[in-house]
Amino acid sequence: MEHIYFGMGAKVYFERGGLEKYIPEVKNYGKKILIVSGKTFIFKSGLYGRISKTLSENGVEHISYSGVNPEPDTDDVDRGARLCAKEGCDCILAVGGGSAMDAGKAIAVVSVNGGSVRGYFGEMEYAKEPLPVFTVPTTCGTGSEVTRFAVIVDRLEKTKKTLSSEKIIPKVSILDSNVLKTLPQKLILATGMDAFSHGAESFLSARADALSKMFARESIKLLWEYLPQAYREPENIEIKEKIFLGSLIAGLALNKTGTIIVHGMGYSLTIKHNVHHGTANAVMLPYVFEYLKENGYAAEMSELEEIWGDTGKLKGFVAGMGLPSTLGGVGVIREEIDELTDLSVVGTKRSMKNMKMKMERSELKKILERAM
Ligand SMILES: [Fe+2]
Repeated sequence: MEHIYFGMGAKVYFERGGLEKYIPEVKNYGKKILIVSGKTFIFKSGLYGRISKTLSENGVEHISYSGVNPEPDTDDVDRGARLCAKEGCDCILAVGGGSAMDAGKAIAVVSVNGGSVRGYFGEMEYAKEPLPVFTVPTTCGTGSEVTRFAVIVDRLEKTKKTLSSEKIIPKVSILDSNVLKTLPQKLILATGMDAFSHGAESFLSARADALSKMFARESIKLLWEYLPQAYREPENIEIKEKIFLGSLIAGLALNKTGTIIVHGMGYSLTIKHNVHHGTANAVMLPYVFEYLKENGYAAEMSELEEIWGDTGKLKGFVAGMGLPSTLGGVGVIREEIDELTDLSVVGTKRSMKNMKMKMERSELKKILERAM
């Protein structure tokens, strides 16, 4: 008998031009807001000015923490948490891609519970309720606006680690596709491939159920159709909005199931060669899926092949958008395969639990060799 458990914590507004309309809702969650973001996009795009103006007009006090790096690490979070506590902020508004949203969620936990984010990795109960989090996603890939995950780089252990709790699912997320207008095409495609990977990995996860699969399938369909169109028509906002929607829906699937090993193997490329998260997944996904089709996942793959045809086509799908489709394409040399394998073993530790069979180091190495 089918068994379903599916929680959806976030309130989502998906509306072009809706930013100023929904930002005032933050009043219901806090009196002093910490706006968490990266260093440049939010200011250059004029987004910070618009949000700050709307908050001021509604009498909401706010300050900025713009110290989040593209792959946020424990220091980025700990600094933000100290600022948040010192300033007495009681709500987080994270504006940006996965980096800002994940850092914002982690700051929400650490600022009230104390210590360093290092003490909060994994699935756990927090002594004190994390601060409420609002998000305004500005990329179309992470799905972080609806998930219970926050992924943070741990430089000491040379891997990415995850905070996982329903308590950090954002309370309200505002998806206004106008914010994608100035996002470079390369980032639309790379973050879109992150979303594609979320949908596809979610579908294969051992934790998938009928509902999560429905979301996963729908997101894959949207992204399979519209990502190549975004490559051909980079200015078309209707197409970008479809990718935004695909990313949101993939996030809902991901929130239930987590990822499988594509993400964990992709981490090794980010750690070793600073490869963008979405690009790293785009490189690894075709090789992982080909391998899984031959090794235990034939039935699941044939369901997915109803959407994308033969799994062998995935490489062409990635390369056709001008994204790197081999390890060489992201600067890896053959001599690094062993080190990348070790990093992949660490990186897949958590997601291996979502596989229906455990994979050995030698199998991960085989996949990396194919991708070379
Ligand atoms: Fe991701």
